Amino acid sequence: MANVIVIGAQWGDEGKGKITDLLSRSADVVVRYQGGVNAGHTIVVKGQTFKLHLIPSGILYPDTECIIGSGTVIDPQVLITELDQLDKLGISTANLFIAENAHVTMPYHRMIDQASEEHRGNYKIGTTGRGIGPTYADKSERTGIRMLDLIDPQGLREQLNWTINYKNAILEKLYDLPPLNPDEVIEQYLGYADRLRPYVVDASLKIYDAVRLRRNVLFEGAQGTLLDLDHGTYPFVTSSNPVAGGACVGTGLGPTIIDRVIGVSKAYTTRVGEGPFPTELDGEIGELLCSLGAEFGTTTGRKRRCGWFDAVIGRYAARINGLDCLAVTKLDVLDQLPEIKVCVAYEIDGERCEHFPASSRRFARCRPIYKTLPGWQVSTENCRTWEDLPRQAQDYLKYLAELMEVPIAIVSLGASRDQTIILEDPIHGPKRALLHADGTPASLLSA
Ligand code: IMP
Repeated sequence: MANVIVIGAQWGDEGKGKITDLLSRSADVVVRYQGGVNAGHTIVVKGQTFKLHLIPSGILYPDTECIIGSGTVIDPQVLITELDQLDKLGISTANLFIAENAHVTMPYHRMIDQASEEHRGNYKIGTTGRGIGPTYADKSERTGIRMLDLIDPQGLREQLNWTINYKNAILEKLYDLPPLNPDEVIEQYLGYADRLRPYVVDASLKIYDAVRLRRNVLFEGAQGTLLDLDHGTYPFVTSSNPVAGGACVGTGLGPTIIDRVIGVSKAYTTRVGEGPFPTELDGEIGELLCSLGAEFGTTTGRKRRCGWFDAVIGRYAARINGLDCLAVTKLDVLDQLPEIKVCVAYEIDGERCEHFPASSRRFARCRPIYKTLPGWQVSTENCRTWEDLPRQAQDYLKYLAELMEVPIAIVSLGASRDQTIILEDPIHGPKRALLHADGTPASLLSA
């Protein structure tokens, strides 16, 4: 029995979808604990591509229960589209459950998200425009609509009548936008409620019961560590807590039930939206990574910014999440490069810095200090064991593990399930390698 959290160790889009899909094989329950339809997982099974925004990727396994936890924000319209899409593909959603206390994204959230981005000018965040920030803001302001409100017709009418009038004042006076018609929105959302009502449960209780029966629970984070509201590159972050700690808050489970935390990191770095990115590559190599890695957002289709692997943020992610092991994805994207750089530290205002700075202004002044490693210049996409990998690729991976002080359990070399090398059991493997008494790191790569 193991309860495992899978998180993104960079700025999101690390390939968590594939890794959680892989780990879902041995999970009885998969729980998404934060974020909304800003996320997007692309999963390829038997040549078919699935794009999921809210529903955990475990839905592809017929016996796995999938739960959308209380820390998420739910856009009912998008969720219903996903349900329809799965239905068409013949994938059952009978095992899907939605937390009654998850918050609901409303049309005014999307409108305010997009309008406020325009008003921000140079201070733009580059949000996905899906209403995520305003939905979480309402949650904090205590004016949010929860799933349990959505499925209570009388309560929903009363609450929305008041809220839409309040939001209309903001839309009209602040953003010069046309007001929403409360009756139309209420009718539309009552329709969504009818469709979603059967899925709504006390999710905390459901997960707790599974844990007590010693079933395996996989907690799936969306976005990544550097997009965390508290620990990311604020203000260029999302409005939830993708870090491992968010899994407990976003489900209503205590931290003592968590057995392991797995980080997912690309073999290089990408970021979407605004904000500093020290290892960003503007030229030819950045373009190459973008095209070979198909680096376009699943949700918005935006081109992702690409750069070298940044071990400073890697170490930070290892610390903030308490990583036990790492899955390195998209190693094959580096196949053609004659040499590969890794950022080992920053230089800020003439001084060497080993740690991620909390200030975005300071972070923007960080210049990467690189170590250059030789590339392997052969295809790795058909490698299936550690021994199959070219020596330079092995050395590269060993170096990342050493810099992050986290053992690598999984290496991914393509989108398909079989393009994967398992180096150690990611779920039942040893706990995170700690330092030996003399201060040297314990063995980091099991191969
Ligand atoms: P929001 O989550 O839409 O408010 O966007 C805030 C920031 O998070 C923006 O920079 C987005 O590009 C980024 N972001 C949100 N979701 C994802 C994701 O799933 N992958 C990568 N970046 C994301």
